[in-house]
Amino acid sequence: MPDNVPRKIAVPLLTWYDAHARRLPWRAPPGANATEPYRVWLSEVMLQQTQVASVIPYFEKFTARWPDFASLAAAEDADLMAAWAGLGYYARARNLLACAREVSARGALPRTEAELRTLPGVGAYTAAAIAAIAFGERAVVVDANVERVVTRLFALAEPLPGVRPRIRDCTDAITPAARAGDFAQAMMDLGSSICTARAPRCLACPLHDRCDGYASGAPEAFPVKAKKAPKPQRYGTMFWLVRRDAVLLVRRPGKGLLGGMRALPTGPWADTPPLLEGAPVPADWLLRDERVSHGFTHFNLDVALATATIAAHAGAPEGEWWPIAEIDSAGLPTVFAKAARILGRMHA
Ligand code: ADE
Repeated sequence: MPDNVPRKIAVPLLTWYDAHARRLPWRAPPGANATEPYRVWLSEVMLQQTQVASVIPYFEKFTARWPDFASLAAAEDADLMAAWAGLGYYARARNLLACAREVSARGALPRTEAELRTLPGVGAYTAAAIAAIAFGERAVVVDANVERVVTRLFALAEPLPGVRPRIRDCTDAITPAARAGDFAQAMMDLGSSICTARAPRCLACPLHDRCDGYASGAPEAFPVKAKKAPKPQRYGTMFWLVRRDAVLLVRRPGKGLLGGMRALPTGPWADTPPLLEGAPVPADWLLRDERVSHGFTHFNLDVALATATIAAHAGAPEGEWWPIAEIDSAGLPTVFAKAARILGRMHA
């Protein structure tokens, strides 16, 4: 790649960013070149696999309640998991707490990508993003927006995921030494507002005159994606066990899907409906007509709902009896919150 490539991309892109940067609660204004590391780290972990619009209210809630590493490190696991409920990918919340405790013990977040990578929940993307955005270090930051922009700029025709090393090399070639954090966030903003997946607005793009995808006449053809196998369909049952005006909630095992989260008891996830298998207690279980569907990364889940009531004096299975009228404050993950909404209405 010729030497002048970085200048040709970075200068017009940063000029565009100076005028058009999104104002986001974790961001310093363009040109500030660094911002509070805690806020950058927290936002980048939340933004792994989650859209900006969904993250904003969680970021505001977390920073109001836990404004720095020390306060987050002192949080109760259960409080943090409940506050995270609804954001998904719950391993992030467990790692967030482990990371806050480690950073608090060390005294500060490290500055380099290599050291950041050693922290719980900080992978290649997040380490690069924090190094660039919080500390102004030159780092090659590639998220899904950047992948789209770069495959178009260079008309990379090889499909994802095989093209990723090429994307990284091309991003490296255009990343400037100065303002690396602004550059990374400018690429993200360009990807989300102009170089969009469908119908990119090329005439508004500060890079269109140096974009091979635009020159090809079909920029939306990039990135090319390998055909995906369809997601498997799995089945499960959630058990709504009522005693007086309360429902039984349990904590899911630490590892695995929705690990460590408060939840309704379930049986196994299976390839055919498991019906009443795995009910928390013997009772007059009734399988309801309503069902709940939810898409996880690797499978779609279809859940049957079973209800039963036990006597006030009946022996209690392990778990918490949560007042049904207050079920919204239990911090249930989305798939359980969907079920609780249906079942709570039935009970009312
Ligand atoms: N997605 C991931 N990190 C981001 C950031 N800092 N700004 C906007 N979108 C992002």
